[in-house]
Amino acid sequence: MMACKFQNKYFISRPTSRELFFSSNATLSRNLQKPGGALVVNCSVGKTELQEIHNLVLKTFPKEKFLWSTNLDNETQKNIDGHNGKFGIFGGKFVPETLIACLDELESAFNSILLDFEFQMELMTALRDYAGRETPLYFAKRLTDHYKSAAGTGPDIYLKREDLNHGGSHNMNNAIGQAMLAKRLGRNTIVAATGSGQHGVATAAACAKLDLKCMVFMGSKDTERQYSNVVLMKHLGAEVKCVEGGFKDASSEAFRCWVSNLEASYLLSGSAVGPHPCPKMVCEFQSVIGKETRKQAMEKWGGKPDVLVACVGSGSNALGLFHEFLRDDDVRLIGVEGEHSATLERGDIGVYHGAMSYLLQDEEGQIIEPRSIGVGLEYPGVSPELSYLKDLGRAEFYSVTDQEAIEAYERLCKLEGIIPALEASHALAFLQKLCPTLADGTKVVVNLNGRGDKDATIVANHILD
Ligand SMILES: Cc1ncc(COP(=O)(O)O)c(C=O)c1O
Repeated sequence: MMACKFQNKYFISRPTSRELFFSSNATLSRNLQKPGGALVVNCSVGKTELQEIHNLVLKTFPKEKFLWSTNLDNETQKNIDGHNGKFGIFGGKFVPETLIACLDELESAFNSILLDFEFQMELMTALRDYAGRETPLYFAKRLTDHYKSAAGTGPDIYLKREDLNHGGSHNMNNAIGQAMLAKRLGRNTIVAATGSGQHGVATAAACAKLDLKCMVFMGSKDTERQYSNVVLMKHLGAEVKCVEGGFKDASSEAFRCWVSNLEASYLLSGSAVGPHPCPKMVCEFQSVIGKETRKQAMEKWGGKPDVLVACVGSGSNALGLFHEFLRDDDVRLIGVEGEHSATLERGDIGVYHGAMSYLLQDEEGQIIEPRSIGVGLEYPGVSPELSYLKDLGRAEFYSVTDQEAIEAYERLCKLEGIIPALEASHALAFLQKLCPTLADGTKVVVNLNGRGDKDATIVANHILD
């Protein structure tokens, strides 16, 4: 059932009242204004009809703050929890039979550490003393002022400072957790793939700390564009394996390497993609971002954020922020992709790297090569969970251009003295479109999920071009 929340009241479901919406604005208006009046659509209405209803409501009450809310039925509830790694039709384990036992073993080990007090204490200590958590929720005063209207109104913008994590990105949250799990399983060789190099740096650092051998696969064009991270990975003791192509090719090669030595190696996935339980593990280790955000928001303004914004490559940092708030229907979730890597905005459903998700593919199902100035955003697939949230209408996805991301990078440097990763700059760039549509005082949290040192030369060259 869909229900609507209006002027802080929930309108109770009345399954048969669907016709209401299409009769007239007057009927709609009357029913909304009646205390307890219903505004209900059966789940079976299509997306276009829902959009129509949404538009009609917004038109009828242009001045009101209006929030959609979903009353989840049992099936949706199960799907949103990722029952057996399936989020509706998305997710799953599309792998050869020989890998199933290995993935099952991983899943059961993962489930057991979730309830293991000793492991959780060790993880908490590592996140605090090694990664540097909790990361601040920073009020970006000058950025907020920048987006104020002529009348001096506008949203309040906060940055979740994942760039301050050890290693310079959100990737450490997951790398340290999974490296600890690998160690428990007795695997001494860690295999990883990296695009921007941030996941590679985090994994290499975690492996050094835990005395594990580390092998990182990276696409040839990425080793050139993000060379500073290649140097860091080597300094941290990792072996960097250059693969012809980009991140997707590096991911395929890492997968092959892992499969050739299942007994001793562990594939440490940095993105919320791949066969179950990989996306679930990444999401779990990253969900600390949203949990902290809820607590910090409560401390700072005594409520929840109204809008969460994160960039989306394959989904790990976005899910990390969103997951805690999935059931808070009054919190808007916005994912921002690169113009030419917009899997959720423009892709079709397909199977890639062992799971079903939205996918950038042509009519014959061949992969369309993604491209972005934010190297970490170049992946043709995306998290199954985000794919489901898109279909459910729970999260919104948009894209911005390279140029818009560059401008956002420069804006944050100049206004706040913070150098954002170009991936995170995509989330920041969307503020240009978002802020003018928001009411005064709306609390917006942007996941500043990486620092931009690695991108300084790319930006400089782009400006000179
Ligand atoms: C700094 C940074 N941000 C974002 C991403 C995109 O990945 P995800 O969508 O999984 O967060 C990456 C991936 O490498 C990255 O390094």
